[in-house]
Amino acid sequence: MTALSRDEMFEQALGLFRVGKIEDSVGLLRRLCDADPNDQPVLRALATFHSNVGDLKGAIPYYLRDLRCGITLETVRSLGAAYINLGDTSALEALAEEMHDLIWDDEVILQVWGFNLWDRKLAAKSIPFLKRAAQLAPDTPLFHYNLSAALISAERPEEAVQAYARHVTPWTGACTQKDVIGEYKTVSQGYDDNGLHHSFTERLLRCYGDAVPARRLRSVLELGCGTGLLATKMPASATSIWGIDISPDMLDAARARGIYDRLLEGDLVTVMEGISESFDTVFSACVLYHIADLRPVFTNVARLLKPEGVFAFSVDPMTDEQDIAVTLKGEFCHSRAYLRRLAAEVGLSERLIEIQMHRAPPGFFCVFKKL
Ligand SMILES: C[S@@+](CC[C@H](N)C(=O)[O-])C[C@H]1O[C@@H](n2cnc3c(N)ncnc32)[C@H](O)[C@@H]1O
Repeated sequence: MTALSRDEMFEQALGLFRVGKIEDSVGLLRRLCDADPNDQPVLRALATFHSNVGDLKGAIPYYLRDLRCGITLETVRSLGAAYINLGDTSALEALAEEMHDLIWDDEVILQVWGFNLWDRKLAAKSIPFLKRAAQLAPDTPLFHYNLSAALISAERPEEAVQAYARHVTPWTGACTQKDVIGEYKTVSQGYDDNGLHHSFTERLLRCYGDAVPARRLRSVLELGCGTGLLATKMPASATSIWGIDISPDMLDAARARGIYDRLLEGDLVTVMEGISESFDTVFSACVLYHIADLRPVFTNVARLLKPEGVFAFSVDPMTDEQDIAVTLKGEFCHSRAYLRRLAAEVGLSERLIEIQMHRAPPGFFCVFKKL
């Protein structure tokens, strides 16, 4: 029987892998590798096969040997993906440093690696990658959005807002309403299990406390109360708590807490228009990005607040070049200049506007007081 050539053995190994004979295939490839340790197609096939069967640790030595024989972007990308999937950010960083010149013009690698560093709580390290990706692809909104999330995580608030503002499009005045009720039907399930959701009201209450220290909470109206997380954080001094929400599913969860004095279903502006009672404080945590034109919100809040009443809320942020803009998700963000103008128009004075993490990207957390 004549011995098979290298090419024939290689083809046979690929064929065996295709029909699921993994061990036989890898065995053949290893023999080829022993015969020529610098055979890059063989090294690459071994790495890919290990990776395809979920053995990333087994794949890495072959990727590294492949790179020692000759560097290709594809292998660098695959090795990086293996490190990411193994959660080995130190190895990823070392690879990025070593391959800096190669990857520095590849926005996909920069974005994926940067995003993963941010996702693994290494925001400061992720920023150079995400910044460069956004520079290379300035028309890709997601890159600016991700950069803004990393910047706010790294406590660089003004830069985070600048990056966020680069991902939006101007608002043209169209009031296309998303299906908020449908969206929150799904979101309501397990809403309270997500720590991020708790952070909206926690941050807002912290800002409220900083802006008007020692002020006692008495009658409270909450716009977009959702499942009622704010109510669980109200002090005993709160004499009454009303909530408004458009989603019957979120309201069901709020009702089940048994804390609210009244829960009203409907669009928050429309519902406010029908209220004649007045309140000491109006809260709205992580809701107003659903609404483009905030003038009716401010007008009604100012009407419902008692003298010296406080309005504390959060919005997605826009720089002062535009009042209102449309985000990647088709929601709305608002500038500080716009909020200040609306407030002044209805007789509210600014106590605090602070940039903090909102959802993943930044937001403005605002506290205004009725004059
Ligand atoms: C992200 S959740 C925040 C809920 C709550 N404030 C919290 O911090 O957990 C947004 C809430 O706003 C409500 N919402 C959105 N648009 C609304 C509108 N126009 N009127 C009333 N509620 C609205 C949604 O139904 C949802 O419950």
